[in-house]
Amino acid sequence: MRATAVAQPNIALIKYWGKANEELIIPSTGSISLTLDQYPTTTTVTLQPEANTDTATLNDEALSGVELDRITAFLQHVRNLAGVETRAHVSSTNTVPTAAGLASSASGFAALATAACAAYHVQVDKRDLSRIARRGSGSAARSIFGGVVRWEAGEDDASSYAQPLDWRGPELRLVVARVSTARKSVSSREGMRRTIETSPFYEGWVRSNRELVLRASEAIAHGDLQTLGALTELSTMRMHASMLGAEPPLRYLEARSFALFDAISALRDRGVEAWATADAGPNVKILTTAADVEQVIDCITSEFPELEHLVSGVGGGAHLAQSEHR
Ligand code: PMV
Repeated sequence: MRATAVAQPNIALIKYWGKANEELIIPSTGSISLTLDQYPTTTTVTLQPEANTDTATLNDEALSGVELDRITAFLQHVRNLAGVETRAHVSSTNTVPTAAGLASSASGFAALATAACAAYHVQVDKRDLSRIARRGSGSAARSIFGGVVRWEAGEDDASSYAQPLDWRGPELRLVVARVSTARKSVSSREGMRRTIETSPFYEGWVRSNRELVLRASEAIAHGDLQTLGALTELSTMRMHASMLGAEPPLRYLEARSFALFDAISALRDRGVEAWATADAGPNVKILTTAADVEQVIDCITSEFPELEHLVSGVGGGAHLAQSEHR
């Protein structure tokens, strides 16, 4: 039995940073994201009735150590749901620069959840699929759906899931400015742990971000991009503030990341609808509209000619590309 699925990354507008339950990956606050139509991950899961262990390749290179352990733990969760023990081979092709703050784990585990559930015959709706994807990587729960998506924090495995939100505002674009493609020095998992354990700002982050989820949800319901954009920058800065308070500090943003935030703010002063955000890495993602995206690109190419950039539209959710049962 073999199944292939495709998923795209998502970029959080209202961020997720910190787990209330690390084993189940229950976040301490909800989050809201936009699924991209770029950087797909394609993953095939092939059941291996003769094998004693799971195996996996990423871009044709065999995985081992913690990376393989994470996939095996995830597959075991799906096997428990299916009530079978058959091992599998996972072959994944990722077009996102892995671990560069571009959420490769989101598309990766959304595609793996979709392919693994099909290969193991676990029949679930998309909400339950998002709960399953969440166990691989929190942000993957959101990539199960396309468009604007809210991950409800919930309080247990059943109540922590993603769902799509209706967006009727201007047509959105997201520009990714690649400040660096190097692997990040501290993983988001480790960074979250350190922030929770040592940052005096963590509590304030959780309290204020819960409120931002509510305010952003209301802005989305009204198609109000001005408010959503402003809240996106606010959630970004508050998340990075909580990280900066950790010991030792987690400083993912570089000087050029801040220079981009300044350039986008100057564009806004000239009437362009654009807001910047950044995750656990130095890359800056700019939320803008189809009408204004050219002005954002002109700004990057003239002020930051050395930076590669990529323009994304709004993508669909994870889906099955192929499924064979022999
Ligand atoms: O789910 P993870 O471990 O990839 O964590 C994602 C954390 C951020 O990208 C920084 C924020 C977010 O909500 O995507």
